[in-house]
Amino acid sequence: MVTASSPALSVPAVPGLPLVGNLLQFRRDRIGLQDLAAKTAPVARLQLAHIPIYVITDADIGHQVLVEDNDKFQKSAGLHFLQPLLGDGLLTAEGETHKRHRKLLAPAFAPKRLNAYGTTMVEETATQIGRWRTGQRIDLAEEMMETTLAIAGKTMFGTDVRRDARQVALGLELGMRAQMESLSSPVRLGYEWPLPRHLRMRRAVKLLDEVVYRLIREGRARGTDKGDVLSILLLAQDEEGGLSDKQVRDEAMTLLLAGHETTANALTWAWYELSRNPAVLAKLQAEVDAAGPIKTEMLDTMPYNLAVIEEAMRMHPPAYMIGRETKQEIVVGGHRLPAHAIVAVNVRGIHRRADYYPEPEAFRPERFLGDAKKNRPRHHYLPFGGGPRICIGSHFALLEAQLALATMVKRATIRVIPSHVDPEPMVTLRPRGGMPSIVELR
Ligand code: HEM
Repeated sequence: MVTASSPALSVPAVPGLPLVGNLLQFRRDRIGLQDLAAKTAPVARLQLAHIPIYVITDADIGHQVLVEDNDKFQKSAGLHFLQPLLGDGLLTAEGETHKRHRKLLAPAFAPKRLNAYGTTMVEETATQIGRWRTGQRIDLAEEMMETTLAIAGKTMFGTDVRRDARQVALGLELGMRAQMESLSSPVRLGYEWPLPRHLRMRRAVKLLDEVVYRLIREGRARGTDKGDVLSILLLAQDEEGGLSDKQVRDEAMTLLLAGHETTANALTWAWYELSRNPAVLAKLQAEVDAAGPIKTEMLDTMPYNLAVIEEAMRMHPPAYMIGRETKQEIVVGGHRLPAHAIVAVNVRGIHRRADYYPEPEAFRPERFLGDAKKNRPRHHYLPFGGGPRICIGSHFALLEAQLALATMVKRATIRVIPSHVDPEPMVTLRPRGGMPSIVELR
């Protein structure tokens, strides 16, 4: 409990209203509120009614939370609203379960395995482009989501989930909306209460469980390594034995949720910036056109392609906030925070600090080339987090984003219709109402 004499109260407060604090702003304009927190101080206090949230917009303090003092923090309560969906999967698991599962999952992301996924990544992107016609109006966000979901289905489950795509997409969408509703409600009631958001979450779980348990049944019946992530989970063994169906289900659901929307958003925002910056697009087209057919082995010849993706994730990090909860009293940035305080590392705010990135609103892939990249302290850039909970899928995601973007750039130019775009921070940062765009095939 924070008392009047507690130094945590000395953390500069983000201006808000009496009693509700910043709750209304949080519901109405989370990005605006985050920006306000960043302007207020490197460690700033938001008040969601009676709940304080300490927002960190400083790379060194962020590094302390995620890396140096990581053992003094656990995942934040916010993520616990996803528990019905993700169970004890890697994203939400703590302590020994987390350590064990991280080890069991590691082979699924080993370099040799990743390279094999590359072919699928190119093929599935080409299938998506195959449906486009010049002059066609598309929702770019939806197209990218379909592409990464198809890639996730093939690489993770060895199956074409396009036939299940509607059910999976609806399940994920319902689950994430329910989680955001729980997060922004001052009323904390157990999951057994039939609140509309809990009913939505139950429907989401049912929709997704149907698909995932069916894939597990099929995988168990087969009993061999099909080269996908699910095979690794089903065949995983350590001194404690293998994973139960429920544990495999939790990990599969986690990878599906953590893996496809994040990468889809990275691609969507990359196109958004390319569309606004024709000179960057022209430079990227020249690089991609000069390269041969797109495949994993030639990515080294396309550094600008990677830099475009990295710069897009700087300005629009899909995981725009990383939440933690203090396990004990701890001093951060000169402020003593109590145990059980909610801390949010403001990734988007850190990525947009003018002292780290001059003219932070300008889209400049050159920031991620040569000396500019080498000389920047690594913790100034954290789209994948840091420390022991750093994204296990970061190499997968970068491989996928590079192959998908290059494949698209070679075949099409996408022009985002400018007036529509507004970032909506759900679990990930996505464009509100999609991203209407026009396709021109090349
Ligand atoms: C551009 C794409 C992606 C971004 C920006 C992203 C971002 C992140 C971030 C910031 C974290 C750390 C969260 C924290 O510390 O609380 C994380 C964790 C995680 N990500 Fe990703 N991710 C991406 C793609 C993927 C992919 C493709 C997969 C799987 C195939 C994946 C699976 C996971 C898992 C399982 C965790 C939990 C790791 C742990 O706690 O040990 N992510 N991701």
